[in-house]
Amino acid sequence: MKAFIFKKYGDFDSIEIIDKEIPSPKPNEVIVKQKFSSLNAMEWHLFRGVTMVKLKLGWSKPKDKYQTIGADISGVVTQVGDKVSNLKIGDEVFGEDFTGAYAEYVAADAKALYHKPKEVSFEQAAASPVAGLTALTGIREICQIKKGDKVLINGASGGVGSYAVLIAKYYGAEVTAVCSQKNFEHVKEIGADQLIDYNTEDFCTQSKKYDAIIEVAGNRTPKEIKPLLNEGGKCAVIGFTSAKHILKYMFSFSRKIKMVNQIASQDNLKELATILASGKAEMPITARYKLADIKDGIKALSSRRTVGKMIVEIENK
Ligand SMILES: NC(=O)c1ccc[n+]([C@@H]2O[C@H](COP(=O)([O-])OP(=O)(O)OC[C@H]3O[C@@H](n4cnc5c(N)ncnc54)[C@H](OP(=O)(O)O)[C@@H]3O)[C@@H](O)[C@H]2O)c1
Repeated sequence: MKAFIFKKYGDFDSIEIIDKEIPSPKPNEVIVKQKFSSLNAMEWHLFRGVTMVKLKLGWSKPKDKYQTIGADISGVVTQVGDKVSNLKIGDEVFGEDFTGAYAEYVAADAKALYHKPKEVSFEQAAASPVAGLTALTGIREICQIKKGDKVLINGASGGVGSYAVLIAKYYGAEVTAVCSQKNFEHVKEIGADQLIDYNTEDFCTQSKKYDAIIEVAGNRTPKEIKPLLNEGGKCAVIGFTSAKHILKYMFSFSRKIKMVNQIASQDNLKELATILASGKAEMPITARYKLADIKDGIKALSSRRTVGKMIVEIENK
C-alpha cells in the first residue's frame, strides 16, 4: 500500500510516499481501507516534533524509519481482529487513530471507530473526528451548552473552531465568533450570530458576559477569561500558544475553567454521528490534497491560518 512517511522532524525534504505492507489487525483492531483523511494542527505538531511528540516517537528523529502520521479515518473495514464485536468487514466507518491515517490502509482500535451515517459523505466524515470530537468535548462535556446559551468561540474559523460554531448552533446556542475579518463570511456561513475581529476589538475588555467560552486560539489567560463568564458559566480550553499558557491554565484551580482532553469514545462518536447525520454540521472544505501531494498540505498547516477543513484524498478514483 502507499503510505506517507517522514524521517526528520520539521524537514519537508524527508517526506516520502512509500510502498509499505498492509498492516495486520491486533485482536482489538480493524483494518480500514481509507477513502479520505484530513489535516489538523495536530499533524503539524507531530511533523515538527513538539516535546510531547518527541517523548513518544523518538527524541532526535522518529525511531520508526517508516513513521506515518494522520489521525482522521474515513473508509471501509477490510479485516477484523479476533476480539472485535462492534464492527464487521464491509462496514463504512469513521473515527481516529494517532498516526496511521495518511496511508491506503490503517490499523485502528475498533472502539475509536463508529458507523458512518449513510447520509454523510466519506469526505465530511473524514473532516470530523479530531476537530469535531474536540469541539464536542468542550461544548457538551465541559460547558454543557443548551438552547439559548450565549457562547463565545475564540479562534472560530479553523478546524476545531468551525466545528465548535456548528455544534454550538446545533444545540441551539447564540454564538459570538472571534476570528480575523477576512474569515467573517466563513463563520457567518456556518451560523455565527455575532462577529469580533481580534485585530480591531478585544473581547476581554468588553462588558458582555457569556454562559460558555470555547478557547480554541489559546492566547488568553484564565485571569482574562474568568470575569467574562456568567454565574454558572464554563470555559473549555482547547489550544495553547505557549508552555507558559498551559501552566497558567493547569494552575488556575478554577472550577469554571477546564482543559479539553479529547477522547474518541463510542458515546462521543455516536453523538458526533447524530449531529453529522442531521445535516446541520456541514463543514466547508477549503482545500483538497492527494496523498502524493500531502507535503503541500502540511506546509499549508504550518501557516496556522487554516479556514474550515483541508482534506486528504487517499483512494485513487
Ligand atoms: N486539546 C485537544 O484535545 C486538542 C485537539 C485538537 C486541537 N487542539 C488545538 O486546538 C488548536 C486549534 O486547532 P485547529 O486544528 O482548529 O487549528 P487550525 O485549523 O490551524 O486553526 C487555526 C485558526 O486559529 C485562528 N487564530 C490564529 N490566531 C488567532 C487569534 N489571535 N485569535 C483568534 N483566532 C486566531 C486562525 O484564525 P484567523 O485566520 O481568522 O486568524 C485559524 O483559523 C491548536 O492549538 C491545536 O493544537 C487541541
